Amino acid sequence: MLLTTTTILAALATGALADNPIIQTRYTADPAPYVYNDTVWLFADHDEDGSKTYNMKDWRLYSSTDMVNWRDWGVVMSLQTFSWAKSDAWAGQVVGRNGKFYYYAPMTRQGASYGIGVGVSDTITGPYKDALGKPLVANGNIDPTVWIDDDGQAYLYWGNPGFYYIKLNKDMVSYSGSVNSISTSSLSGTFAEGPWVYRRNSTYYLVYAGKCCPEDIRYATSSGPTGPWNAKGEIMATQGASFTNHPGVIDYKGGSYFFYHNGALPGGSGYTRSIAVEKFTYGADGSIPKMVMTDAGAPQIEPLNPYVRVEAETIAFSKGLSTEPSSDGGMHVTSINNGDYLKVKGVDFGTGASSVSLRVASASGGGKIEMHLGSLTGTVIATCAVDATGGASTWKTLTCPVSGATGKQDLFFKFVGSGSGNLFNWNWWQFNKNATAA
Ligand SMILES: *[C@@H]1O[C@H](CO)[C@@H](O)[C@H](O)[C@H]1NC(C)=O
Ligand SMILES: *[C@@H]1O[C@H](CO)[C@@H](O)[C@H](O)[C@H]1NC(C)=O
Ligand SMILES: *[C@@H]1O[C@H](CO)[C@@H](O)[C@H](O)[C@H]1NC(C)=O
Repeated sequence: MLLTTTTILAALATGALADNPIIQTRYTADPAPYVYNDTVWLFADHDEDGSKTYNMKDWRLYSSTDMVNWRDWGVVMSLQTFSWAKSDAWAGQVVGRNGKFYYYAPMTRQGASYGIGVGVSDTITGPYKDALGKPLVANGNIDPTVWIDDDGQAYLYWGNPGFYYIKLNKDMVSYSGSVNSISTSSLSGTFAEGPWVYRRNSTYYLVYAGKCCPEDIRYATSSGPTGPWNAKGEIMATQGASFTNHPGVIDYKGGSYFFYHNGALPGGSGYTRSIAVEKFTYGADGSIPKMVMTDAGAPQIEPLNPYVRVEAETIAFSKGLSTEPSSDGGMHVTSINNGDYLKVKGVDFGTGASSVSLRVASASGGGKIEMHLGSLTGTVIATCAVDATGGASTWKTLTCPVSGATGKQDLFFKFVGSGSGNLFNWNWWQFNKNATAA
């Protein structure tokens, strides 16, 4: 739905299909990555298609174990979660504690200004429920960031305008003392919003959006969690079609990653943003290097195993597709039209596959899935006809023969069909090993 054919042809002509932005099935903003159970969980807010101003109603979740193929978990919290909320489901962040997960997020209250609410869930994938039935911080403005120091003290910061924090109690839904203001005068008037605070060894980092507008990303360090902050300079310059940016920083499987947003998808703007990621290495002195926004994104950490069931909404890059909750469980891929495609990066076929199973549902007509190696025009290893199954929620598992799939490959599922509209819904896929070759 989001990428046009013209864009794809242009990308093909240059021989490169981008992997950044990392979500293409809808516009996403304000990345809040969190590492849990050996997986990166990426919480995001969401710009509605075609927005000309902020039009944001829900919070969404994606996950990856390789930093390039991202699984879509759908909506985990929305304005409806909070009976006191009116609008503006903006930048939030999740942290785990006490065997639960806490989602701090700002929204405009009914008949009042912003409040910061807390969603709580027993599982990271939600759904998150309103923990308090009212805001945790009634006049909290926006961009909350949460973090637990090594001594167990949890902090909730936020800022725009100003920069504030509270000390959260161990229950994570109440706080001690009052709302404290943090001086940003040492940041030379550059602090705009989007704080992201964490600690690495004995250094506390404040990464933030500066120089509004358009914004860049800067950072500062301190020997304590609340400053004073020493300005360290720019990490990412203003670039591209979005006048805001918003940082999220994690370490994962031995690497360091910087998440941000831009307007790089077709139709992209300051109100139709997309999350992207870069890998980086801290300097020996703890400094964060300057980065530019790239199309390539982060390198893949480990190959993807095609011989287990893979949710179809696991995507490195795609064109034209969307996702929705499935009558077959979880999410499925939909909005599949002739010429659309879905790329899965670094699939390890090993010594070979003999067949592929696909879980599909098609109301009428159907179409075909062509599977290509390396590019949209690469070797075809399988072509699977998807005929009408009797309804868009009538699920069927098809198995089609495969030949020539060995080793580590980028896999392109290309959708072919006549007529307009959704050809079929697609829930999952799984390759079966070539018994002869094994
Ligand atoms: C952790 O991940 C594994 C593998 O994906 C999964 O089977 C397990 O349920 C997860 N555990 C929790 C507590 O989320
Ligand atoms: C902490 O410091 C040590 C040595 O100074 C370094 O090797 C290590 O990578 C640092 N760890 C983190 C998380 O910064
Ligand atoms: C699987 O084995 C069959 C029979 O030996 C062979 O014809 C086919 O090419 C093999 N496929 C792959 C992908 O290795």
